Amino acid sequence: KQLEPFDLIVFGGTGDLAHRKLLPALYYRELDGQLHDNARIIAVSRRDLSDDEYREWARKSVASQVNGLCDLAMQRFMERITYVSLNVDENTGWENLEQVLAGREDITRAFYLSVSPKFFGPICSAIGEHGLVTEETRVTIEKPIGHDGESAHAVNETIGSVFKEHQIFRIDHYLGKETVQNLMALRFANVLFEPLWNSAHIDHVQITVAETLGVESRAGYYDTAGALRDMVQNHLLQLLCLVAMEPPESMEADSVRDEKLKVLKALVPMDEDRVNRNTVRGQYRAGASAGGAVGGYLEEVGNPHSMTETFVAAKVEIANWRWAGVPFYMRTGKRLASRLSEIVIQFKDLPHSIFLEEAGQIAANQLIIRLQPDEGVKMQLMIKDPGPGGMRLRKVPLDMSFAEAFKVRNVDAYERLIIDMIRGNQTLFMRRDEVEAAWKWVDPILEHWANDKEPPKGYTSGTWGPSASIALIERDGRTWHEE
Ligand code: BG6
Repeated sequence: KQLEPFDLIVFGGTGDLAHRKLLPALYYRELDGQLHDNARIIAVSRRDLSDDEYREWARKSVASQVNGLCDLAMQRFMERITYVSLNVDENTGWENLEQVLAGREDITRAFYLSVSPKFFGPICSAIGEHGLVTEETRVTIEKPIGHDGESAHAVNETIGSVFKEHQIFRIDHYLGKETVQNLMALRFANVLFEPLWNSAHIDHVQITVAETLGVESRAGYYDTAGALRDMVQNHLLQLLCLVAMEPPESMEADSVRDEKLKVLKALVPMDEDRVNRNTVRGQYRAGASAGGAVGGYLEEVGNPHSMTETFVAAKVEIANWRWAGVPFYMRTGKRLASRLSEIVIQFKDLPHSIFLEEAGQIAANQLIIRLQPDEGVKMQLMIKDPGPGGMRLRKVPLDMSFAEAFKVRNVDAYERLIIDMIRGNQTLFMRRDEVEAAWKWVDPILEHWANDKEPPKGYTSGTWGPSASIALIERDGRTWHEE
């Protein structure tokens, strides 16, 4: 369905996110005819560019990410782009933006802050001071929101002094991923799983988000962040919430977010003993990745003493009726053996087997939700081996690959999230209290790690992380899922 007219104002218009994600996502929406004739994209950055120069940059960005461009759509797309030069640091150029926005107070106005978080406060304040907030204005911010609970609170306070909560869209792009939303469809559009979705039937849950990339060009940011802040505080905890939450009353934003918040509040706090026993932090060393030799983290960031973790594994406990006694094992890291994100629901063993020993071992059922690559859902079942040879049992997957089942282009998370934001639908965005509750759980881990003199455990690039991560789960008599 076509969107109403809007002005989308992208701060950081010449940045990496605009280049890789935002412009290509908007182009695809153009291609689908979803953008109204009276919808504009206003790119803002400090650089001194004309509209045409920026359009040329934008065209190249789209072309670098999209196969088989449509000239007609591209032309329409270019025509809706305007460029505004504005220097946030020096607080100059706001009159340029005022001018461009003047007379368009009645339509949706969406600010997108794709800039370093240190600018969130100054930009929001200036937007307020220049009287640019209308009834239909929203603001989108990218993570990280703060580097701990206290700073996140401060950021939220500043933004909250200019915008109301229903106008603030905190992006966690994992929530826009197709399979992540499918997790909700799977749980709440089928009668099959929900009765089993609890500690009576589930042994444990695994959440893996593995990357093969290293820190690439983001060493400056990453070395002050690390995997716990960069991935766990947001993406992995959000995934955990969607697996663990109670059925929300509806898909309405606050119903879903209320349920996620309850999960975050029920996480067992990480005291020192738990941090020591239940977390592992690692840092990649030189090795091989994607077929080539790669350097180690310390050399890449040029800081031989860096204690920043590029890998985290943790055992997380949820203290509520549904999940008491069911550990959630999470792991994420850079330069791992393959790019793979998945959620594994491991069901319990049979209470009793009626089969003879010759039938073979009966593996407990598993539901595997693959986020990327090759999005899909797989159910591991036991079936009888075909043939006359008596009752022999075998583990066989009921496997659905979305690409094969639907034969459609995989829509990027940003396409969906930008559209939802323009429509004002906050279901897939994080509410303030969720972000702060997630920090509350993460803060003690950061604190204990900071006091711990022992550096993160090294792991060779191209492996599954430090052996301590394997020990973490094997200590409980379980293993990480591997195909
Ligand atoms: C970002 C992190 O939020 O997510 C990056 O800052 C990480 O470090 C990225 O690489 C992973 O996203 P995706 O969509 O490629 O899995």
